[in-house]
Amino acid sequence: MNLGISQMEFKNDLISKRSQVNSNIDFLTTNFIKVSANIYDPLTNPQGYINLGVSENKLCEDIMLKKIAEISGSPDFSSTDILYYCALHGTQQLRRTLSKFIEEHFKSKEKIDEEKIVCMDGVSAIMNALAFTLADPGDVFLCPTPVYNRIRNDMLEVGGVDIYEVPMFNKTSPDDPFKMRIDLLESCLQKARHGGLNVRGVILVNPNNPTGKAYNPHELQQLMTFCKREELHVIADEIYALTTQGQGGFTSVLSLSIPDPQRTHFVWGLSKDFGLSGFRCGVVYSHDIRILARLKQIATFQAIPAPTQKLINGLLSDTEWIDKVYFPAYYERAKAMYKLVKEVLDELSIQTPYSCRNTLFFWMDLSQVHFD
Ligand SMILES: Cc1ncc(COP(=O)(O)O)c(C=O)c1O
Repeated sequence: MNLGISQMEFKNDLISKRSQVNSNIDFLTTNFIKVSANIYDPLTNPQGYINLGVSENKLCEDIMLKKIAEISGSPDFSSTDILYYCALHGTQQLRRTLSKFIEEHFKSKEKIDEEKIVCMDGVSAIMNALAFTLADPGDVFLCPTPVYNRIRNDMLEVGGVDIYEVPMFNKTSPDDPFKMRIDLLESCLQKARHGGLNVRGVILVNPNNPTGKAYNPHELQQLMTFCKREELHVIADEIYALTTQGQGGFTSVLSLSIPDPQRTHFVWGLSKDFGLSGFRCGVVYSHDIRILARLKQIATFQAIPAPTQKLINGLLSDTEWIDKVYFPAYYERAKAMYKLVKEVLDELSIQTPYSCRNTLFFWMDLSQVHFD
């Protein structure tokens, strides 16, 4: 089924060439999403849809539910919605909860539209999907380094899109050794282009893994302005956003005036801020209808299982628990752990001159340290 996108619009270079081919969502998927949002119930929704377009085996539903409730010990797992296919890019309920959570915790300037959220099983999966959607094999993304090493794997292994490193650590910089350097981005961009590479965008990990650097509003605004001028996508991986130990200091791109919303993609997940890497939950918030359509298609292959979606929804919608129990305990423990690690490093005379106080990372120079 066509999403109402004409072939003319595909000439736009916003999405990759491979995304422009065969990007019509199929009839069953389109209608599955529509029907799932308005399912028939004799009592609560008599005007809803009965889905005759999906193959699901419900013959032993009662036996299965009983067993799952028994092994999970959770009342959450006693309703049938966890048993069957669900909206694979995130149930409406989960995306609605996420939109409220993101609005509040990332201080977003605009209202977060749940229809512009796509969930997949991890930020790694999201990066893989963005590589496919935004770039073609052989294309590159600029990326300030040092950075989480697997970003390259996430973009390259399946998507064929490489990272072009922009070395931004300057230990002699008097104020901030991790400062955003637009001049460096600019020179790397020119070098890559002269070398015949097609540069599709910039990936920024903020706060950064491994340096802990949290970019300030001015640095983010400069970056986004540069990217708009050069027609580059910005992928903001904010997976460590809430690890700032309650001390502030973090700014999300969502809280700023975004110069080029169609090319700016916010990414977050549960692995770090909630310590739930086993849940496999990643989220991307994007604006362009074609990009979203492609990401939703890819989510079919990288979906969060229905029981996990339900658990995540329960967790993130319990705002009282998050604000009064989880974050206070987490920040208190993070501060205590910071202190402990610092004391041990001091005892060993290991200097940490480049560490940012407000995240989980210590960035230190061990080259001069000799252990007996
Ligand atoms: C910056 C960054 N992005 C993404 C990931 C992977 O996240 P996920 O577990 O959601 O795939 C990591 C994991 O270490 C990370 O450090």
